[in-house]
Amino acid sequence: MFNTLLKVFFTLLFLISCTNNNSVSKLSMSDFGKMPNGEIIKKFKISNANGISVEVINYGAIITNLFVPDSSGLIKDIVLGFNDFNSYYQNNPYFGAIVGRYGNRISNGTFLLDDVKYELKKNNGPNSLHGGLVGFDKVFWKFIEQKSDNQSLYFEYHSKHMEEGFPGNLVVGVEYSLNDSNELKIKYTASTDKKTIINLTQHSYFNLSGESSGDILDHVLNINAAYYLPVNENMIPHGPYEKVESTPFDFNNPKKIGLDIFVDDIQLKIGNGYDHCFVLDNIDGKLKKIGSVESPVTGIKMDIITDQPGIQLYTGNFLDGSLESKEKKQYEKHSGFCLETQHFPNSPNQKEYPSVILNKGEVYNTETIYKFSY
Ligand code: GLA
Repeated sequence: MFNTLLKVFFTLLFLISCTNNNSVSKLSMSDFGKMPNGEIIKKFKISNANGISVEVINYGAIITNLFVPDSSGLIKDIVLGFNDFNSYYQNNPYFGAIVGRYGNRISNGTFLLDDVKYELKKNNGPNSLHGGLVGFDKVFWKFIEQKSDNQSLYFEYHSKHMEEGFPGNLVVGVEYSLNDSNELKIKYTASTDKKTIINLTQHSYFNLSGESSGDILDHVLNINAAYYLPVNENMIPHGPYEKVESTPFDFNNPKKIGLDIFVDDIQLKIGNGYDHCFVLDNIDGKLKKIGSVESPVTGIKMDIITDQPGIQLYTGNFLDGSLESKEKKQYEKHSGFCLETQHFPNSPNQKEYPSVILNKGEVYNTETIYKFSY
């Protein structure tokens, strides 16, 4: 009852502010920092009519803040991140970033394309991870204003031929948009002047109870996937899909992330928690809802809608308390979870996985939506 009253109160307050402003969906920007070469990093913000807003910087196209009202109308920032640019620049475990040119691992940092062997920069033991030493998460993205629309942000990056070892000059675009149906849409486009490989994803760490609120083990997760990809000691999938049935990886019926995370299971041991790719049901390249997560504390629920074949569930296993949260607490292990929609890890070396090849003349075009309710 009290919650409902509060909700009505906040909605009224919000509607009054809308009438005063005439428009709520304003694009605003502010200075956030400076790259060593002098390039200015700005923070951009878009909002919708229901009190949701997202802030993004033109470094790594990083989502720094995502504000969503909870079931009592209080606004929560539900993504992990930092208050200052230097922390992103110096030591960011991919918080909020666009990951590319290849999200997740490529075994031994090598792959063959038309019988040519490409050697990538290795940054994860023997592997190349998330694009190598300087992936798309660590570069300056050009912000291009979309004149007609103040509810979207478009960033572009031109990746040079052989950057980090990948062939082809690649033009990559990422558009974030926020609509009044509470959907945060991420649209990726890319084109190349030479055959290459590509696998882009968004690496936000979510905590639907609030970014500084502790661990996410109580969050209830559903992933529509009958299969997942078990990995070897180097975190490279063995190859074949394996059934999730009767394993800790079965999220077909919603369950708490923490329910099975500490059970004696070789895959959870190797991953130090969940750090695995799920093979989504009915892969057909069409946008569909493939799962959801909900915080029992705030009632904030996030649906995941994507056209991608896989999703990497990563439960913040490498967070160890050494990074300071936006509210000046420590990000401990499991403080956030990532649900990275993508193609399968090491696909360039696994002929049976869906193809990640982008040919000259083709357009890479994919979309993922995080939809909120509360
Ligand atoms: C992905 C990987 C993890 C880890 C995180 C970021 O989820 O699979 O192993 O690299 O990104 O730390």
